[in-house]
Formats: sequence, C-alpha cells, structure tokens
Amino acid sequence: MFVAGNWKMNKTVKETKDFFNEFNKLVSKTKNEILICPSFPCIPAAKQFASKKVFIGAQDAFFEEKGEFTGKVSFLQLKDFCDFVLLGHSDQRHKFSESNQSINKKIKTALKFNFNVILCVGETLEEKEEEKTNLVLSEQLSDSLKGIFFNSKLFVAYEPVWVIGTGKTAKQNDVFEAHSFIRSQLTELFGEKANSTKILYGGSVKPENCKEIFSIKNVDGVLVGGASLNPKTFAQIANTAK
Ligand code: PGA
Repeated sequence: MFVAGNWKMNKTVKETKDFFNEFNKLVSKTKNEILICPSFPCIPAAKQFASKKVFIGAQDAFFEEKGEFTGKVSFLQLKDFCDFVLLGHSDQRHKFSESNQSINKKIKTALKFNFNVILCVGETLEEKEEEKTNLVLSEQLSDSLKGIFFNSKLFVAYEPVWVIGTGKTAKQNDVFEAHSFIRSQLTELFGEKANSTKILYGGSVKPENCKEIFSIKNVDGVLVGGASLNPKTFAQIANTAK
C-alpha cells in the first residue's frame, strides 16, 4: 500500500523535526510506502529529518519555471528537495478556483522535471446528490490529463470533497465504484498499462477505517489529511497491512 500524508497549512519547522523524531521509529518496520507533503517552508526540514524510508512531496507548484509570478514556487526550485507533488487537491480546486486546464499545465511541467504526480479528483456533495460523480470524474481526468501519455510516475487520488476533513466516510461500495470507474477511464486514456497506475483513496482516513479501505478492489493506498499530523495515528495507518 502507498500511504501519503497531506499536512496542508500546518506545522512549523520545529514541529516538523519533532514529528519525524517520533515517526521514524514507529515506522521502521513497515512494508508500506510512505509519503509526506508538508507546506513549502517545512520541506527542507522534512527532507533532513525524515528517515530514508519516507518520500517527501509538495502540495502544489506552479507550471512556469521562473519569472514574474509573485507568490508562486516552481518545480525547478523544488526539485532539489523533493520528487513528489499533489496536484488538483480539492482545496486548490474549490477554495482557489483552480481549473483542470491549469492542473494539466502543472502535470506536464511536473513530469518534465521528473516528479511523481498525485492527481486529485473527486465530486462535491451537490454533484453526488445529482448523480454526477462519474461525469465529474471523467471530466477531471480527461481534461487534467489532456495531451499526456502514460507515465508510471502518475498516481490518481480519489477524494470525495464531502468526505474531506468532515469525519464522514464514503460507503465501501461507493469507493469501489469510483475506483473501478477511474481505472476504466485511465485504461481508455492510456490502454492496458493503466492497470499499474496507483489509485489512492482520501477523505477522513483514520487508523480505525484504513484496514477496510485497503481491502477494497482498485484501492492501492490512501491520502491522509488530519490523521497525518499526529505521528502516532499516521504511523498506525502506515503500519497497517492490506
Ligand atoms: P482528511 O483530508 O483526511 O483530513 O479528510 C484528506 C485530504 O484532504 O487529502
């Protein structure tokens, strides 16, 4: 399983160091792969203090390489520190109105700089209630991946927006159906090779529900927000076997 943590806009450099002092010991025997995405100022500290077992990633980056883009950070600047990036997270899509077109440009630049990309997709509660989940997922996937060929560095994370940070959990069958649909869309875009693309599930993943989530077909891992902030709870998830 691939267990990714998204710290969002949390933790200082000192808190990052304290986290890894505890976390490294707790996950020394895990067979799962672990990724942590801190916010930009904590990425160098994470790289320094995380054990070699833990991959470090960014939560976003801009598609241009350099220039007059105040407040933005490029893949060129990040590549000395990390080689993973989350793109299209629902915070970006819904709180900062990010479009699939912008995400598409970012994925292209990220792959050019050899980053592993976790493309996040997912429907809002309103879209779910209108039974538009598949429509939304297919649009997000085809528009975000337009002009992109199969790449083993591309992951997809399915995160229903209404489950993120709410403590609610999606029904096992909903997760199964969404992941199967995503797999079929990826196969349409990339052919049989897409069977190897990792599809993560995200949204209120906790130590109590991760085992059940791991057992669902086409779930290759999880993307964890809130529960990744505490070394003990995140280690519990990272140590859970399929
Ligand atoms: P959550 O966040 O685990 O706190 O719901 C998940 C995410 O936003 O990636």
